[in-house]
Amino acid sequence: MTILITGGAGYVGSHTALVLCQAGYDVIVIDNLVNASREAVVRVEQLAGRRIVFVEADVRDSDTVASALTRYGVDAVIHCAGLKAVGESTERPLLYYQTNIDTTLSLCSAMERVGVKTLVFSSSATVYGDPDELPVTENAPVGWPSNPYGWSKLMIERILTDVQAADSDWSIALLRYFNPVGAHESGRIGEDPKGIPNNLMPFVTQVAVGRRATLSVFGGDYATADGTGVRDYIHVMDLAEGHLRAMHVIAERGGCRVWNLGTGRGTSVLEVVEAFKRVTGRPIDYRIVPRRAGDIAACCAAPERAQAELDWRARRGLDAIVRDAWRWQRQNPEGYMGSDRE
Ligand code: UD1
Repeated sequence: MTILITGGAGYVGSHTALVLCQAGYDVIVIDNLVNASREAVVRVEQLAGRRIVFVEADVRDSDTVASALTRYGVDAVIHCAGLKAVGESTERPLLYYQTNIDTTLSLCSAMERVGVKTLVFSSSATVYGDPDELPVTENAPVGWPSNPYGWSKLMIERILTDVQAADSDWSIALLRYFNPVGAHESGRIGEDPKGIPNNLMPFVTQVAVGRRATLSVFGGDYATADGTGVRDYIHVMDLAEGHLRAMHVIAERGGCRVWNLGTGRGTSVLEVVEAFKRVTGRPIDYRIVPRRAGDIAACCAAPERAQAELDWRARRGLDAIVRDAWRWQRQNPEGYMGSDRE
């Protein structure tokens, strides 16, 4: 089978490409490298011992996508391409709506044109907004995302649901990621944010490696056990394996189906800091600062539907997450930039 991954040179896409290659699939990556690195794909090829076809293009270039789908005989598409910086989405809403929604519309048009109708979409737990009940199940009402990035994910979920409702030849998986973190255990591929990281885990590893001085912990007065925010951190390799399972299940069963990809465990910011010290021996200098606008106190997945229907569960715990994130950061202190192909 041949799978096309949009955004396959990015963080989640590259780990997913690796899992697919290792499972024996032929992988085509299409990426415009706006927030990704060609080097990631090269390293996936090295790790898997398998060649990947890399197409440097914008997914909005519908003709290029359509011709890649037919030329390589693609059976299914995993759609990870999109902009994802929450803060930037608030400053540049047009850019976010235009990029994320246009990309998906163009992709679906190209797929429809050539008759490839199996799609796995990278959605986000952000569609739940601030959930009333935890852990949050897939039946929880989709909420009121606090930023345009989150709204773009919710709008795309709606679009894809409508597309499948109108034509039952489509098989679509909507995967609601909780907080993807960590890296492949080799330390060869990982998360490589441009500029100052917005997310907790890359910030922590950059403090540990000396690129940043101090972690600002956003809020110490939440109604959580230690007052800091609680999230469901999922190892990116578990997440990648979830894509493979979801692709199998929708290819077999059809429909438009939603799955949470999370662990079911909530971890506070200070627990992450503690785990980091325990696993790596490096204390993280931090100070508690006011809350970040738009943040919620706690979020945690109910993972049962994915366990039952996908026969999948997150197998890697917090210590593995921290160990692998740290290995990646230590071996690549400047991310992919230090490599000779950049
Ligand atoms: C955010 C997005 C989510 C997106 C995810 C991954 C929202 C509300 N959240 O999740 O949609 O999928 O990023 O890109 O849309 N923290 C600190 N200091 C830091 C950074 C973070 O204390 O420097 C805290 C936060 O307050 C939070 C936790 O760490 O409690 C996790 O934050 P982060 O990694 O940014 O993820 P989310 O905000 O949960």
